Amino acid sequence: MPDAFQNDPHEIKVGKVEPRGAPCVEFSPDPSAMVIFGASGDLTRRKLIPALFKLSRTGIIGDDFFVLGVARTEMDSEGFRTAMEEAVKAHGEFETAAWERFAKRLFYISADYGDEGAYAAIASFLEEKEGVFATKGNRIFYVATPPSVYETVTGLLGASGLAGEKAGWTRLVVEKPYGRDTGSARRLDEAVLSSFSEPQVYRIDHYLGKETVQNILMLRFANTIFEPLWNRHFIDHVQITVAETLGVERRAGYYEQAGVLRDMFQNHMMQVLALASMEPPSVYDPELVRDERSKVLLALRRPPLERMDDWLCLGQYVEGEIDGKAVPGYTEEEGVARSSQVPTFAAMRVYIDNWRWQGVPIYLRSGKRLKKRLSEVSVQFRNVPHLMFKDTIGGEIGPNTLILKIQPEERIQLKFHTKYPGSRVCLRDVFMDFSYLEGYRGLTLGAYERVLMDCMLGDKTLFVRKDGVSLSWEFLTPILEYIEKSGKGAPDVNLYRAGSYGPTEADKLMSKDGRRWRNE
Ligand code: BG6
Repeated sequence: MPDAFQNDPHEIKVGKVEPRGAPCVEFSPDPSAMVIFGASGDLTRRKLIPALFKLSRTGIIGDDFFVLGVARTEMDSEGFRTAMEEAVKAHGEFETAAWERFAKRLFYISADYGDEGAYAAIASFLEEKEGVFATKGNRIFYVATPPSVYETVTGLLGASGLAGEKAGWTRLVVEKPYGRDTGSARRLDEAVLSSFSEPQVYRIDHYLGKETVQNILMLRFANTIFEPLWNRHFIDHVQITVAETLGVERRAGYYEQAGVLRDMFQNHMMQVLALASMEPPSVYDPELVRDERSKVLLALRRPPLERMDDWLCLGQYVEGEIDGKAVPGYTEEEGVARSSQVPTFAAMRVYIDNWRWQGVPIYLRSGKRLKKRLSEVSVQFRNVPHLMFKDTIGGEIGPNTLILKIQPEERIQLKFHTKYPGSRVCLRDVFMDFSYLEGYRGLTLGAYERVLMDCMLGDKTLFVRKDGVSLSWEFLTPILEYIEKSGKGAPDVNLYRAGSYGPTEADKLMSKDGRRWRNE
């Protein structure tokens, strides 16, 4: 009997995955220098340097690469190397010999972001080292500073002439948050685009760099069996969940200004939604893919503000338990106002007004300090039009569901019904279950590794274009303004226990529609 049809009561595994001969393309990035503004910060420590080290250790980037860290903290290059070594040991995979090679290519300048002299110093440093490391004049400026200095840094990069392209290419990477509403995102764009041209700008959304998020397009458009069903005729609704067990950590200063809608919905949730619902472009080309993602955001129905509480449920965690450990509530976290009303959870129903999705609700849900870490897209199909087994089995049956698990598990599962073996006629739910890494023993890239590599390659598919950012803000800004002004009908911030699935009011958002969240 083939592996695909094991006699397991709950789980049917797919057969062996055959990677050999599978069509794929390997890339090797251009040599380059990367200047990281905000080099003493959390992002550099936790994500950027561990990711660059992995790219170096695995030979994806060669010795023709170096990093210049820039930040206000007083430190020399040696101090930076020591700090980054500790960071990689804590957040990445360390290997002594590879580290020694990589560390020789790490440098640091301490500078004030608003000091014009600092940019002259950066320019001469680059010119000197570019000869040594043969980086061919290719430069990446990575802005990983607090957002309040984005405009200063990009403006002075322009004024100092560093934004221009001479011997090689020059690219600018900007981290989220990209603005905090439509107006501020537009102003940031004006500032950025007065120094750089749009093709030079790489706006990061690290969710797009996750393997299984990229796989949404492969699953949908490299197979014939799913796409004919991927529409209002067959799909009852879609649920997109990004649940975290982490709390606000040490980012209260930022989070108090952001809340879950700015932190997770404006970017990650919208981009996953766009991939799950977009039309296929004619070719897998960065601009065409980004066109299609933007069209989804453009087609999002504006919810009626005066009835927002029918469309959106907000929550904030109170003390509870995660994995058996007591954790404080949001307002007890360091740096959070005791009376804070900032939501750490949101569930929202959205509709895409186009032919494919008309009338199909898409439920988005994300929160901190939830029961378990889980990101998934779950597509629930319609019920059978008529159940001929009703009298035989004495009841209804559940719908078919296709679940694209993004993290921590990377799987695709299809839930369907089969006959329960034996003499009685009864049905059972089974899962056809594919583990994304099954049968693969090669290199895997984390989200930051992937997007950093793509930036060096000049591939913008996984970055957000100017219109992508602004369309997403245009959808969310009226909602944020309404909530923050506490307009009539604005949703309350409901409390939920840390370690739960979120506020019970979020269940009502679903039950009003006769549906339930998938909490498995
Ligand atoms: C970040 C948010 O963009 O994404 C964080 O600012 C959140 O609040 C994080 O924790 C989640 O990313 P991941 O990759 O851990 O799911």
